[in-house]
Amino acid sequence: MRFSLITTLLPLLALTADLTTATGPTKKQLANRSKKFSIGIVLYPGFEPLDVIGPFEIMQSLSAYYPMTISFIASKTGPISSRAPPHVMVPGQPPVDLSHLIAIDLYATHTFTTAPPLDILLIPGGMGGMVLVENNDTSIEQFITSRYNQLEYLLSVCTGSMSLARAGVLKRKRATTNKSFWPWVMQFGGKVKWVPTARWTQDGKIWTSSGVAAGMDMTYAFLSHVYGTEQLNSIMNAIEYAPHTDPSWDPFSVVWNVPGANQGGPIESCVKPAGL
Ligand SMILES: *[C@@H]1O[C@H](CO)[C@@H](O)[C@H](O)[C@H]1NC(C)=O
Ligand SMILES: *[C@@H]1O[C@H](CO)[C@@H](O)[C@H](O)[C@H]1NC(C)=O
Ligand SMILES: *[C@@H]1O[C@H](CO)[C@@H](O)[C@H](O)[C@H]1NC(C)=O
Repeated sequence: MRFSLITTLLPLLALTADLTTATGPTKKQLANRSKKFSIGIVLYPGFEPLDVIGPFEIMQSLSAYYPMTISFIASKTGPISSRAPPHVMVPGQPPVDLSHLIAIDLYATHTFTTAPPLDILLIPGGMGGMVLVENNDTSIEQFITSRYNQLEYLLSVCTGSMSLARAGVLKRKRATTNKSFWPWVMQFGGKVKWVPTARWTQDGKIWTSSGVAAGMDMTYAFLSHVYGTEQLNSIMNAIEYAPHTDPSWDPFSVVWNVPGANQGGPIESCVKPAGL
């Protein structure tokens, strides 16, 4: 009698124990799984395609399990091109015409004025950032500032951290950016604790990633933090992407000779499928 009771309880005990291990979901992650997160991604002419699509790919797959909504937000609704308008790329030189570049349009569903309440906001990088700066366009920065307090998380990919710095939300915070554009971004945030060797950084509710593809690694780390890894790992394996899981792995800081970078850090990486 006693024996059979213990036998019946054992699987239950094993399940409970599993929930309390370091890798099991925390209570907050479990709560997040039933919370409907409102996600916003900002677009502007000349956004970097993968900065948007990489993180979005993973989010879309995960939305099969956990409720989310998405808004693509720009200064006007409708198609926004990934091709940057002509702009000065080297100070003192004439504007560079990029009209020969192939490009993709993504559709902005909302403007900065009509965007719904947001829990998560992501700012991508891209050549278009230079145009915004050249035109003294601060609409993205004003949007970040106006939404910052309500946001649960603010994310940037690549040179998107330039807008966070210009908005003033990175003061005394750790952040990183596109390593091939390091000197350009540095002019915008004197009080930011820029991290020269980082695939991505997290400081409080702000997550920033290095250039372009690094946004996918940050997104994996971010979504692991918010939801835990069970569904996420099988998604990463389904899309056959092996994320870098060490935020200090950053050979591109060496490739691009970023001042202050850890020159002795490992260049090679041997990533493996998520969860293995
Ligand atoms: C950032 O890095 C990538 C890769 O080097 C590059 O293609 C992109 O144009 C860079 N600059 C900006 C402003 O995103
Ligand atoms: C942007 O601001 C600078 C400095 O105030 C000014 O010199 C420049 O003409 C402005 N550019 C545009 C496109 O308004
Ligand atoms: C979501 O998860 C994060 C990380 O565990 C936690 O900080 C946050 O409070 C959670 N949010 C809710 C609504 O539980």
